[in-house]
Amino acid sequence: MIGANDKFSKIGFVLAMAGSAVGLGNAWKFPTMVGNNGGSAFIILYLALTFCVAFVAFLGEAAIGKLGESDLVHSLFKLAPKHKKQWSLAGFFMIGAVLIASFYMVVIGWILYYIIISFGSLPADTSAAGALFGGLISSDITSVVLCFSAVFFVVFYIVSRGIKNGIERLNIWMMPTLFVLLLLMLFYSFTFGEGFLKAAQFLFVPNFSKISGELVLQALGLAFFSLSMGVGAVPTYAASLPDGTNLIKSTLSIIFINIFIGLMMGLVVFTFIFAYGADTAQSGPGLIFVSLTTLFAKLGIVGNILAICFFVSLLFAGITSAISMIEPFAFYLINQFKFTRAKALVLIGIFTYILGIFSALSFYAPTADSFSLFGKSVFDALDYLTSNIMMPVGAIIFSFFVGFVLNKEALNILLGRFMGRAFFELWYFAIRYVVPVAICAIGIYQIVG
Ligand code: TRP
Repeated sequence: MIGANDKFSKIGFVLAMAGSAVGLGNAWKFPTMVGNNGGSAFIILYLALTFCVAFVAFLGEAAIGKLGESDLVHSLFKLAPKHKKQWSLAGFFMIGAVLIASFYMVVIGWILYYIIISFGSLPADTSAAGALFGGLISSDITSVVLCFSAVFFVVFYIVSRGIKNGIERLNIWMMPTLFVLLLLMLFYSFTFGEGFLKAAQFLFVPNFSKISGELVLQALGLAFFSLSMGVGAVPTYAASLPDGTNLIKSTLSIIFINIFIGLMMGLVVFTFIFAYGADTAQSGPGLIFVSLTTLFAKLGIVGNILAICFFVSLLFAGITSAISMIEPFAFYLINQFKFTRAKALVLIGIFTYILGIFSALSFYAPTADSFSLFGKSVFDALDYLTSNIMMPVGAIIFSFFVGFVLNKEALNILLGRFMGRAFFELWYFAIRYVVPVAICAIGIYQIVG
């Protein structure tokens, strides 16, 4: 189904999958959770959950893709020994990825706007910065739509070039550039001395008293979100994996890159925050768009350069994630209806663009009230539906499929030779029993909690 020329190279796969994992979540979800929830105690917890649960499930999703060698719907159809049709329906969870893309690209649009304004003068105090950000999303709909549209066209253009010439090519320069930009900013943060030490303390000094049952579930949710699981991104990229790849090694590299970049982002962000005594309890957009910009403003021209580097690195992190949300469904439409790539993308594009505009309008003051779903803004409703419902449910179905439906011998041939019999059996046990129980716990917590 996949032409020989449309496979990733080995390094291309690792970078593309890491590109999908490293995203806006690493910039504000991961550092804020680490800092506010016990520093390295949280990191240890996160690592333990990543390896015992997320890594196990990730290998399962990758196995579906590699063994099926097709889009998720067709892979499930091919691999299920019976009830093929019913199993293949689970593949439609990849629509969740398209839904994420619609509001995710709106946020990347804000980032693009901040790159542009970083060339001029930045707001000097928190109230001015708050007003700037609030003003952008609630009244400057023209800029929001223009920036969103620019991001939208770039993302769809890259996906239209296919795996090898689009997705791999982009990730192969964008991911290292992102890394170098972060490294430069990290070196600059060292010069802050005390601010840097405080940031390191905030992130690394363990405080086990903060760890609670609730936090365990939040950390698990973060691990799944951060590894782009449950909505088809992993199986779709794995379908284009070259034969003979050591999936264990590649997955470990992806996980390592993801955590490492999250920590680098955290160190950079919190060094600036501590150096100027801003509020660490701020999270999400407030931290990035409000606190950080005022700090950059204090540094004069150096601040402008840093701001540009910082927002460009976020832009890159976001774009490499967004393309991995579009590719799964595009690949399905191409296989199922023999559409050309262009036609599949035009269809997905129209849908995503309209939803994206609705998300943007749900912040725009004159229309905010008319764009709400279930008492939430379109933006929040889509975020809730995808992160809290579709991703965990998808992840559980796929691990059940791997643990109880997929042929064990095929899995052993794919994975066992890289991990040895004992580890393979351990993994197999974990995907059958540990992963579903853990995800159910997140699910129940999210409904009840
Ligand atoms: N992992 C990405 C981040 O940390 C976001 C993400 C969530 C994602 N779900 C996804 C990416 C599904 C691709 C597909 O920002």
